[in-house]
Amino acid sequence: MLNRRRFLTLSSLSGLFPSLAFAHKNSVLHSAPTSGPLVISTWKQPKANAAAQAALDKGGSALDAVEAGVKIPEADPDDMSVGYGGRPDRDGHVTLDACIMDEKGNAGSVTFLEHIKHPISVARAVMEKTPHVMLSGEGALNFALANGFTKENLLTPKAEKEWREWLKTAKYKPIANIERHDTIGMLAIDSKGNISGACTTSGLAYKMRGRVGDSPIIGAGLFVDNEFGGACATGLGELVMRTCGSFLVVELMRQGRTPQQACEEAALRIVNKQDFKDIQVGFLAVNKQGEYGAFSIQKGFNYTITLNRAVQVIDAKSYLK
Ligand code: GLY
Repeated sequence: MLNRRRFLTLSSLSGLFPSLAFAHKNSVLHSAPTSGPLVISTWKQPKANAAAQAALDKGGSALDAVEAGVKIPEADPDDMSVGYGGRPDRDGHVTLDACIMDEKGNAGSVTFLEHIKHPISVARAVMEKTPHVMLSGEGALNFALANGFTKENLLTPKAEKEWREWLKTAKYKPIANIERHDTIGMLAIDSKGNISGACTTSGLAYKMRGRVGDSPIIGAGLFVDNEFGGACATGLGELVMRTCGSFLVVELMRQGRTPQQACEEAALRIVNKQDFKDIQVGFLAVNKQGEYGAFSIQKGFNYTITLNRAVQVIDAKSYLK
């Protein structure tokens, strides 16, 4: 039975978002629904959310918002797991992965991209200007250069110094998130009630050359179904890819779970099937009603939500306490 509070919420929201005339059974309301646009991102990202909100304020779509939002950490040299300033692979090359998805189900992605500061904008160009979803490596770079992007050195002196230190032992222990900051995934709902998402990363520090994580994989690092909701992932991409994590979260919401329930179930799928010791994976989700949720395996994952212009950083619940 649909509980009364949820029914009232859905009834009132269906005026705002007409496609909500239906309701999901068995759902429990875990967080207040939005009455307006919403931006939500993995980790502590108030500046990224502010850029996304500014795009919405200018009349931009959710797609414009998520692109503008994630460009902030992509350009930030102090953010060493995304874009410019990201930690290199073991051979000293900064290689970037990103994807974007709009409310129509269109998607664009770049993997193993070098020398371009804003892989998310290249991913959007792949989506909008090619018949493909994903371009990789040299092909992605050539496409970017042909479309007005400029080649830059993304390896900052700080990242290079750390890498040279690492080379002294070259001990490869891919523990994601020990620095409590990883991939940025962002989801937004615009004034029309449309959902879009973006995900961008420099991937694991000192990864093998050519390694691609979950972040540019549609359904792993990001998935949006505008009828039901969107989800994104952070953490060790190998674990997320093996379970099609973000697709799973959205699919669970489609089956009636709240975003919180869906994130928890997707994380448990990993915990029950894979070796997760010392490994972090976090999921973040929002549904069409503006309810949101997050859950991670290890503690320490947080997310930033901008709702009615109020910004909050919230600690996610976790499997391990
Ligand atoms: N989630 C980022 C990566 O594994 O590359």
